[in-house]
Order: sequence, then structure tokens, then C-alpha cells
Amino acid sequence: MARGPWGVGIPLGRLLLLLLLLSLARGAPRARSQDDFHSDICATCHEHATCSKIGRTSICMCKYGFVGNGRTHCIDKDECQFGASVVCGNHTSCHNTPGGFYCICLEGYRATNNNKTFIPNDGTFCTDIDECEVSSRCRHGGRCVNTRGSYECYCMDGYLPKGGPEPFHPTRDATSCTEIDCGTPPEIPGGYIIGNYTSRLGSQVHYACKEGFFSDSEDTVSSCTAVGTWESLKLNCQEIDCGHPPEVQHAVLEGGHSSRLGSVAHYVCLEGFESPGGKITSVCTEKGTWRASASSCSEIIIEINEVSVFNNTCVRWQINPGRINSKIEYVIYIKGQRLDPLESGHEETVNLTTESRTPEVCLDLSQGTNYTVNISTAPPRRSVPAVIELQTAGDDLLEDDGIFNISILNEVCLKLNRHSRKVGSEQVYQFKVLGRRRYLNNFYHATLFNFTTREQTAVVCLDLYPATDYTVNVTLLGSPELPSVQTTVTTAPAVKQTISNISIFNETCLRWRSMKTADIEEMYLVHIWGQRWYQKGFAQEMIFNITASSQTPETCLDLSPGTNYSVSIQALSSELPVVISLTTQITEPPLPEVDFFTVHGGPLPRLRLKKATEKNGPIGSYQVLVLPLALQSTFACDSEEAASFFSKASEASGYVTAELLAKDIPDDAMEMSIGDRLYYGKYYNAPLKTGHDYCIILRITSEWDEVRRSTCAVWAHVKGSSLPLLLPQMVGVGLGSMAVVIVLAFLSFSAV
Ligand SMILES: *[C@@H]1O[C@H](CO)[C@@H](O)[C@H](O)[C@H]1NC(C)=O
Ligand SMILES: *[C@@H]1O[C@H](CO)[C@@H](O)[C@H](O)[C@H]1NC(C)=O
Ligand SMILES: *[C@@H]1O[C@H](CO)[C@@H](O)[C@H](O)[C@H]1NC(C)=O
Ligand SMILES: *[C@@H]1O[C@H](CO)[C@@H](O)[C@H](O)[C@H]1NC(C)=O
Ligand SMILES: *[C@@H]1O[C@H](CO)[C@@H](O)[C@H](O)[C@H]1NC(C)=O
Ligand SMILES: *[C@@H]1O[C@H](CO)[C@@H](O)[C@H](O)[C@H]1NC(C)=O
Ligand SMILES: *[C@@H]1O[C@H](CO)[C@@H](O)[C@H](O)[C@H]1NC(C)=O
Ligand SMILES: *[C@@H]1O[C@H](CO)[C@@H](O)[C@H](O)[C@H]1NC(C)=O
Ligand SMILES: *[C@@H]1O[C@H](CO)[C@@H](O)[C@H](O)[C@H]1NC(C)=O
Ligand SMILES: *[C@@H]1O[C@H](CO)[C@@H](O)[C@H](O)[C@H]1NC(C)=O
Ligand SMILES: *[C@@H]1O[C@H](CO)[C@@H](O)[C@H](O)[C@H]1NC(C)=O
Ligand SMILES: *[C@@H]1O[C@H](CO)[C@@H](O)[C@H](O)[C@H]1NC(C)=O
Repeated sequence: MARGPWGVGIPLGRLLLLLLLLSLARGAPRARSQDDFHSDICATCHEHATCSKIGRTSICMCKYGFVGNGRTHCIDKDECQFGASVVCGNHTSCHNTPGGFYCICLEGYRATNNNKTFIPNDGTFCTDIDECEVSSRCRHGGRCVNTRGSYECYCMDGYLPKGGPEPFHPTRDATSCTEIDCGTPPEIPGGYIIGNYTSRLGSQVHYACKEGFFSDSEDTVSSCTAVGTWESLKLNCQEIDCGHPPEVQHAVLEGGHSSRLGSVAHYVCLEGFESPGGKITSVCTEKGTWRASASSCSEIIIEINEVSVFNNTCVRWQINPGRINSKIEYVIYIKGQRLDPLESGHEETVNLTTESRTPEVCLDLSQGTNYTVNISTAPPRRSVPAVIELQTAGDDLLEDDGIFNISILNEVCLKLNRHSRKVGSEQVYQFKVLGRRRYLNNFYHATLFNFTTREQTAVVCLDLYPATDYTVNVTLLGSPELPSVQTTVTTAPAVKQTISNISIFNETCLRWRSMKTADIEEMYLVHIWGQRWYQKGFAQEMIFNITASSQTPETCLDLSPGTNYSVSIQALSSELPVVISLTTQITEPPLPEVDFFTVHGGPLPRLRLKKATEKNGPIGSYQVLVLPLALQSTFACDSEEAASFFSKASEASGYVTAELLAKDIPDDAMEMSIGDRLYYGKYYNAPLKTGHDYCIILRITSEWDEVRRSTCAVWAHVKGSSLPLLLPQMVGVGLGSMAVVIVLAFLSFSAV
């Protein structure tokens, strides 16, 4: 708009002024007759002029675009003579026409009135055509850029020109745009790419070092650049090698680690050091360096505690458990202070090396002294020392009866355990020893001896009696003012047997030997059991004590004949009894129970045989003997001479007329007749000869263990005998009376 009008306007104004002046000069003579004059003048105007009335005069004026006097000549004015840019504006061409001109925009420009031609005085001018807006003719990836009167192609972001330089003309040039492709991202040795990426512009590739590799640089991203290449990286993945683990103070490295990532090095504290914070380790990190754990080794300070005194002079303590494995040396400093200020205090250092957690040491201390004991560890170990006060027991045995400890050794010896006496102080003690047994009134064992203190432990063998309570009175000789100390000990029962050589005499008497040499009272417990094989119901038991002072005690027992006995004898001072077996001999059977009668010339009554009791032994047989009455006075009951009726020596001899075994006799009684001509056993019961006088004897025989005993009783006297009665008849004197029993037989031994 600013271009055209005023550039043209100046010369045009001057031209009009000129034309006006010309017209005024020419019109003056025609002033008298206005109408005529006007028509006259107008008729004379040039064909390219117009007649104009100015006031009373008319003037011819060349039309616009013509120059002249308006009457004779009006010639065409060349407006373009001043140049297109002056007349039409920039980017124009100027075209003169008769009486005018027009302007046309140059190629690449257009008129702002959008006409092909224009006259600049209406403000129209030429403006650049934006070809990029009009048509996009840059191909894929191209970007149109308008320039004055033309346009060019550039490649869009993400694209690069191919086949020529940039910018390029879409048709004229062979250049094209291709999409940027950075291709495969670079490989990093020891590294790898994390996640997805593309090969397009701006794509980012993230790198990381592989396990066991590390890089100093944090530069881990590469981007696809506009020039189609990946940015170079500073990432440099190197294999991790931590090297040798670092030293840890007061610790040693244990084997079994590498220098690679994650390797753990273990340390142990040196002896005497500990790691309260736990195990000490160092880990090979991804930075290629070792990272140590927070704990460290600190010196163990031994705590000595729980100090206690025992056995008067011994000290025991404890140390904090389980931290030290080797031996520890202790320094025990002892300082004694006695009441007597003149006596110098005892001062000593004792060293003890031990690996015990509860060390103990017996100190060589004096009696009756107050001590300070300071226990600490020997350098270089450090400890919290323990200091205790300790008072030893009295100096003399008689001040404290706990000092002398008397015990029994080997049954017969007194063992004297003495504590806490300092070697060198020697004193004589008198020992009075008296042994008593509670169950014996007359037992006592007294002895006396002197004992000189030289050793800590002494044994005095005194031949003590077993199972005896001993009272020991100890008196310090030379100090009559001191009371004696009394202690009691009891000896154990003897394990060894004290009874030997048991023998039996006078059938029921026992004699034995006591091992004790001295004539000392002893009590014996006797236990007796008796049994009979032939008498099941028989049982005898006796228990009694006997006391004896003899070395060969004797006792006679109230034993039954024909019995097996077990006899147990135990000295009460002995642990075990002695048991022996003993069998008593049988004695004569009880006298046969018979009803004695006398027959004068009449027939014999039947004999009634009653079973005898087995009081003194088993009964074997019952025999009925027929004896001429004259022989009665010389008959011996235990003689075995008596023969059978047929084997008798003469008519005048006696004979056995019947024999019945004990087992054949019924429990109540049985009867038999003399002379019934039957056999009893192997004996013939012959009839008595009439006219003779006879004596009928019943003999009971007991036999056991090669001993035979018989008893006999006269059953009947037969004077002038006759045949036996068939019916029992009560005849005779003294029948039914037990008063008259004639005993013929006496005891006798039968040694076979
Ligand atoms: C015409 O172009 C010239 C030179 O390019 C410039 O100086 C001038 O201002 C332009 N005129 C107009 C009206 O644009
Ligand atoms: C364009 O030109 C034609 C003839 O040349 C004219 O009639 C018309 O008015 C012009 N238009 C403008 C907008 O100037
Ligand atoms: C990576 O690409 C794969 C296939 O091209 C796709 O399935 C996956 O979701 C992508 N992952 C991420 C994190 O973009
Ligand atoms: C005390 O000493 C006696 C004898 O020396 C010993 O037999 C005993 O074991 C000691 N007592 C303790 C508790 O050690
Ligand atoms: C030891 O100390 C006790 C009190 O602690 C004191 O009664 C006693 O007399 C002291 N004995 C000696 C020998 O110093
Ligand atoms: C005990 O140990 C200490 C310290 O180690 C030392 O000085 C002293 O001589 C030792 N004493 C004895 C008796 O060994
Ligand atoms: C105990 O002994 C240790 C080591 O000799 C010493 O440092 C400490 O002072 C002593 N303590 C006492 C109370 O004597
Ligand atoms: C006496 O010594 C014996 C054996 O040596 C022991 O068993 C006993 O405990 C001691 N008695 C006392 C009171 O010390
Ligand atoms: C014990 O010693 C005292 C004093 O020396 C003496 O008189 C006595 O006879 C001694 N006793 C014995 C049993 O030796
Ligand atoms: C022992 O001493 C006590 C008093 O302590 C006394 O009664 C007793 O008779 C004494 N015994 C002997 C055997 O001396
Ligand atoms: C034992 O028998 C004999 C005769 O054999 C006699 O002298 C002695 O007194 C008897 N002993 C007893 C204890 O009966
Ligand atoms: C024998 O004497 C001991 C010791 O006195 C006693 O215990 C026991 O009961 C006595 N036995 C008999 C049977 O008297």
C-alpha cells in the first residue's frame, strides 16, 4: 500500500498544475459571450481531450494519460518511463498503454488485489507468493521453506538429505529425505544394554556393566543423534578385582576368599582380643574395593570375679567365660597382717598358670592371720584385679576342732587330715582312743599314743575293731590350759569273716574260733533252722544272741535228734554270717506203749500194737520176741542175735516170732495173736510150747544214717502156756494198766 501512490503522486500533481495554467492563458479572449465561446472552444478540442467549463470559460484538456494543449495535440504520456519499480512498486513490470499503463507482478509475486494487472494508485502492490502454502511439493520427510519468489526443501527432524545437498528443489534436484537410522548401538566391552531402544533419532540406549564389572564413569546413556550416529560413551566396564583384603588391626585373615566381586574375607581376632560387635568381615564391592564390617577387635580385659575361699587357705575364682582359649598366668599377691605388731607381716607373690575357667590355688598361709589377696593377670594381659580379705583359722588345732579331720582308713587305721599348719611348727599331741560297742556292756578297746606334727596328713594304724564307736580325745601336750578336743569315728563292720573252724561236739554243741586275738567281748547272732525228711510237718527255728569274750566260744544247742539243721553264726561286728549244716543222730524210739499182762496156763489174749511216735528218729520196724522167761534178765534189747523160730540155737533160746514194718501198721492200732502159725515178715509165728514159761517182748527199732536204736517193752508173762484163745479174753493181772511197764533195754551205740 505504501509503495505505489505517493511515488506516482508527486509528478502527477505537477502535471495538473501545468495544465491548469495553460488552460487559463488560452481561455481569456472568449470572455464576452460565454455560451458561444464555450461551444466554440469545445469544438476545437483534440480528440484525446475533454472540454471543461471553468467558471465562464471552457477549456480543452488532454485526457488522463495524454499530454498536449488539448486542441491541436494531445500525445500519449509514457508513465513507465520512470521505471517499473518507481511507477508500479517493487517486483513489478510496468506496461504503458495509450492514455494509461498497468502493472504486472513479477513471477513469484502476486498483486495484493489478486488481479493479474493492477494500477498502483489504489494501493495495490506485489507481494511474494508463499509457494509452501500453496502446494507442498517436498516429498516424504521434506520440509518446504519459502524464499523470495521461490521455494526450497529441507529435511524434517529425524530425516537426512540423500542424493544431494540441502536445501534442494523438489523437482529440479535429485535430493530426497530419508529417515535417520543410527543402526546398532555400539557395544561396550563388559557392559550390556538395559531395556528397549530404537535406532531412530533421539532414541536412548542405557548401558550397565555386567556382573563382576564396574566403571568409574556414570555416563551410561547414548542417544541417536541428528547425524545418524550414536553418541560415544565414556562408560568403561572393567572386571572387578578387589586385590588383597585390607589388614584389620589385632586380627588375622582367615583363608578362603578371592578378589572377585562379592567375595567375603573373614578375620579372627588375635588371642586376647575379641570382637564385641560380631564377626569381622570385608566384602569385595562392585567398586572394586573391599568394604569392611563395622566391628573391630578390642583387647579382652579379663574380669576376675566370684572369688571364694575354701579349705581355709585355698582360693577359687572365675573369669568371664569362653573368650580366652589359652593358658592365663595369674599373679596372686598376698599380704598378711597379724595382730601382734612385732611379728612381721607375711608378703608373697604366687604365680599360677592355668587354662581353667575356674582356677583355684591353695596358698601357703599362716594361721590366725588376716590376709589381703590381690589376684590379677600377668602382663601383657590386662585384667580387672580382684582383691579379697581372707582370715585364716586359728593357729592351734585345739582352738578349732574342724582342723583335725580324723577318718578311718583300711578299717583299722586312723587318718589324720590336718589343714593349714605351716610346715616346721612341730607339736606333740596325745591321742586317747576308746572304742565301745553299743550292744555290749563289757566291750572296750582303749589305746593311747603320741602324735608329732610333721606332715599335713598322717596315718596311725591302731588295729581297730570293726563296728565299734571310737572316741578320740586329742590334747596338746605342754599346754595344760587348753581343753582337749574330742571327736568320734565309727569303724565299719568287718568285711572279712571273723569266724572260723566251726566244729560240733557232744552232738548238739558248737565250738568256733574268733579271729580276734585279744580276749575281747563279742556278740554272736545264732540262727538255726531244723527239718526232717521223714516228718514233713516238722520245723524248728531258733534265733538268739550270745556274748562271749573267749577266742573259742562254745554253745550247746537244744536240738532234736534225727534232724537236719542249718546253723548261721554271725559276729555282730562282721558283715556276713557263717552258715553250716549239721545233722543230729537219732536216739532211741519212744517206749512201746503196751498193756502188760500175765497169763497162767490159760490161752493167750490177742496183742494190741500201737504205733509209736517218731520223736527221736524214723521208726523202721516192730518185732515181737518170744523169750524163755528165765532169759529175761539177760536180754539185751539192741542185740541182733534173736533168730527166727526155725533158726534158733536151742529149745531154750528166744526167737523173733513176728516182724511188722512201721509203714504197715495202721495209724490207730492193730491186733495179733501169738502162735497163729502165720508168717509176719520172714518170721514164723509158732505156737508156744505148752507147759513152758515165756516172756513176750515188743521191740521198736529206728535206723537212720547208719545208726540203729531200739527200745523194748515186756508185753506179757506166760506161765504154762496153752493154745491161744480164739476170742479175746480179759485175763491177767494189771490188764489195762500202764503202770507196770518193765523196761529192759538201755541205750547203746551201734557202730557199723
Ligand atoms: C522496493 O525495494 C527496494 C530495494 O529492494 C526497497 O528499498 C524499497 O523499500 C522497496 N519499496 C517498497 C514500497 O517496498
Ligand atoms: C480487475 O481488472 C478488471 C479489468 O481489467 C477490472 O474490471 C476490475 O475492477 C479489477 N479488479 C480489482 C479488484 O481491481
Ligand atoms: C520392549 O519391546 C518389546 C517387544 O518389542 C515389548 O513387548 C516390551 O513391552 C517393550 N518393553 C518396554 C519396557 O518398553
Ligand atoms: C580340702 O582339702 C582336703 C584335703 O587336702 C581335700 O581332700 C578336699 O577335697 C578339699 N576340699 C575342697 C572343697 O577342695
Ligand atoms: C582380722 O580381722 C577381724 C575383723 O575383720 C578382726 O576381728 C581380727 O582381730 C583380725 N585378726 C588379725 C589377726 O588381725
Ligand atoms: C610372677 O610373675 C610376675 C609378672 O610376670 C613376675 O614379675 C614375678 O617375678 C613372678 N614371680 C614368680 C615367683 O615367678
Ligand atoms: C592389685 O594388683 C594389681 C596388679 O599388680 C595392681 O595394679 C593393683 O593396684 C592392686 N590392687 C590393690 C588393691 O592392691
Ligand atoms: C575329712 O576327710 C575326709 C576324707 O579325707 C573327707 O571326706 C571329709 O569331708 C573331711 N571332713 C571334714 C569335716 O573336713
Ligand atoms: C607321750 O609323750 C609324753 C610326753 O613326752 C610322755 O610322757 C608319754 O609317756 C608319751 N606317751 C606315749 C604313749 O608314748
Ligand atoms: C575325752 O574328753 C572328754 C572331755 O572333753 C572327757 O569327758 C572324756 O572322758 C575323755 N575321754 C577319754 C577317753 O579320755
Ligand atoms: C561233752 O561231753 C564230755 C564227755 O564226752 C563232757 O566231759 C563235757 O562236759 C560235755 N560238754 C558239755 C558242754 O556238755
Ligand atoms: C541281738 O543283738 C543285737 C544287738 O544288740 C540286736 O539288735 C538283736 O535284736 C539281738 N537279737 C536277738 C534275737 O536277741
